Amino acid sequence: MEFRGAVAVVTGAAGGIGAALGERFHDAGATVVLSDRSGAALETIAARLNARRANSAHAIVADVASERENERLITEARRLAGPIDLFFANAGVAMGTDLSASETDWNTSFDVNVHAHRWAAKYLLPEWLAAGRGYFASTASAAGVLAQIGSAPYSVTKHAAVAFAEWLSITYGSRGLRVSCLCPQGVNTAMLRGGDRPTDDTAINANAGNVVRAAGAVLEPHEVADAVHDALVAERFFVFPHPEVADYLKLKATDPERWLAGMRKLQRRVFGV
Ligand SMILES: NC(=O)c1ccc[n+]([C@@H]2O[C@H](COP(=O)([O-])OP(=O)(O)OC[C@H]3O[C@@H](n4cnc5c(N)ncnc54)[C@H](O)[C@@H]3O)[C@@H](O)[C@H]2O)c1
Repeated sequence: MEFRGAVAVVTGAAGGIGAALGERFHDAGATVVLSDRSGAALETIAARLNARRANSAHAIVADVASERENERLITEARRLAGPIDLFFANAGVAMGTDLSASETDWNTSFDVNVHAHRWAAKYLLPEWLAAGRGYFASTASAAGVLAQIGSAPYSVTKHAAVAFAEWLSITYGSRGLRVSCLCPQGVNTAMLRGGDRPTDDTAINANAGNVVRAAGAVLEPHEVADAVHDALVAERFFVFPHPEVADYLKLKATDPERWLAGMRKLQRRVFGV
């Protein structure tokens, strides 16, 4: 992946990991299209980047929880910036806990964490396959290869996001599509801090943040963005900014009973049961 001169779209770019990705790709020479479901922060970030390099950052408000909005985002991004080289489906929600989670939480989790990736790919792939090149990246989570203690909807939908990214790579990789999947543990964002935004989907609950903190180091968004940049330049599928995630994954594959026992221990440590 060559960022200089490329057009990169990032969803969930109003803050946290998405904003850091947008800025990192811009620093590397890309024109960026930043998207989120509300506009004020997006406009501020785009203005800051445009002050560094004229007409190099665009902001599009889109709610990626529907197919129509994904199609509109892609059409609008192409109109503003030209053909898309990289689409980063980063927007995500952390909502719902155990078996009491509402149907709305389950549906929203699937729409934003999984279907949004599928809908975006549906409108990106025809142009990319015709050109013989394109880059689709998504933010899943370490929960997508391991598990999120305390949240069934998050664990399940992030696994699905990883599965979809793998499927894309398998199906279209030999026709020029590159795919990467970001799977971090804790990152210092509104989602992890939980509840510091006036929405109910920024935290699975206060305990989830504790789980993530108990599981290991919490990285800053810019550190994650650096790891992503390097992985995309190398065209690597998995991006594990916390290297221990690869070790846990190895343990899960080779000794699943021990891995499950360890996860139950962590569950007890955080929830007491
Ligand atoms: N922070 C962590 O510890 C952590 C760990 C692993 C994975 N992740 C994943 O990283 C991604 C980014 O999250 P973050 O940590 O930067 O938190 P964040 O809350 O700062 O960012 C999430 C962004 O997604 C946007 N979003 C949510 N629903 C949307 C919708 N329907 N349409 C458009 N935008 C929408 C939000 O407005 C927000 O700006 C998410 O996919 C999250 O699941 C975060």
